[in-house]
Amino acid sequence: MNNSFDLNKILRPHILTLAPYSSARDEYTGHVGIFLDANENPYGSVTGENYNRYPDPYQAEIKQKLSPIKQVSPDRIFLGNGSDEPIDLLTRATCTPGQDRVIILPPTYGMYEVSASIHDVKIDKVSLTNDYQIDTEAVLNAVTPLTKIIWICSPNNPTGNVMQHDAIQTILENFSGLVVVDEAYIDFTNEPSWIGHLDKYPNLVVLQTFSKAWGLAGIRVGMCFASPELIRILNKIKPPYNISLPAQQALLEGLNGIEKKDKMVADILQQRDALTEMLQSLPIVVKIHPTDANFLLVQFEEAKAVMDYLIRETIIVRDRSRVHLCEGCLRITVGTKEENEVLIESLKKFQPRNVIA
Ligand SMILES: Cc1ncc(COP(=O)(O)O)c(C=O)c1O
Repeated sequence: MNNSFDLNKILRPHILTLAPYSSARDEYTGHVGIFLDANENPYGSVTGENYNRYPDPYQAEIKQKLSPIKQVSPDRIFLGNGSDEPIDLLTRATCTPGQDRVIILPPTYGMYEVSASIHDVKIDKVSLTNDYQIDTEAVLNAVTPLTKIIWICSPNNPTGNVMQHDAIQTILENFSGLVVVDEAYIDFTNEPSWIGHLDKYPNLVVLQTFSKAWGLAGIRVGMCFASPELIRILNKIKPPYNISLPAQQALLEGLNGIEKKDKMVADILQQRDALTEMLQSLPIVVKIHPTDANFLLVQFEEAKAVMDYLIRETIIVRDRSRVHLCEGCLRITVGTKEENEVLIESLKKFQPRNVIA
């Protein structure tokens, strides 16, 4: 190991000494009693549901259930309002505005840059290679004494590919800040998660989400796995009740549905193959990038015109045609069999501009 990682040096000094807000549910954690401590409504909720009580701030029951599923101890789990919340909290915990820096590897998920920009944190961009892999040497060369986080997305959005294991390992071993591996799409690949390496690398942070494979984007719950010390810091700086009661209830139920999740993933993977095959047969398609996610990055002859045409057909895909290294590409989420077939039928009817003219 060539790094000298020390969490206390990575955190902003005032975060280390910060006294967190102590909520009513922090001070008394029992379930039985007459609760006159949190200024709640004792009669119930306007909806008829029992939403009148504040939820568990640390989601202990969920973490107990999630721990064996992810094979990680509960004290290494943080749950956020989507994985966008830990992205924001990690930035805030480590980066002093106007001073510290993060490294991102474009083309990649946009929130790392947005979060840094919101907090006036400087961003160093190190492009992926032409085959969307990490240029390890360039990344390590871009590190400065003020660099706090390197953001790695694997499988990467919007390119869909997994980043090489050796590249991530080299960065973990040679960078003394946090290396965040965002695995939002991990359920769609056969590659193992980096969660299994948390013990070995105290500077490793892994993000996952319930928004994709689990089909729970609407309840907004993301997962962050890291050292117990870092998890304690995230708990200290998060809004006290960041996961709502209905979200916690839905999640507790959802965690019983692993088989359903696995079945949906299998269906999505099957549809991914079918959609790839159908797209390949279209003359307007130039290239379909290999994917380990639930979407395809597809290069078209006339991406912008195809995008506008699909919108007129009320089929909405994501225009990535002006994104670095994705020129001419649209990102297409794998839909149901029926949705994919409607998409393909529409694309078959697309009239290329040069033909209309
Ligand atoms: C790579 C990546 N990370 C994180 C997220 C955000 O997920 P969440 O819904 O958990 O905030 C997304 C959403 O598209 C994503 O693509």
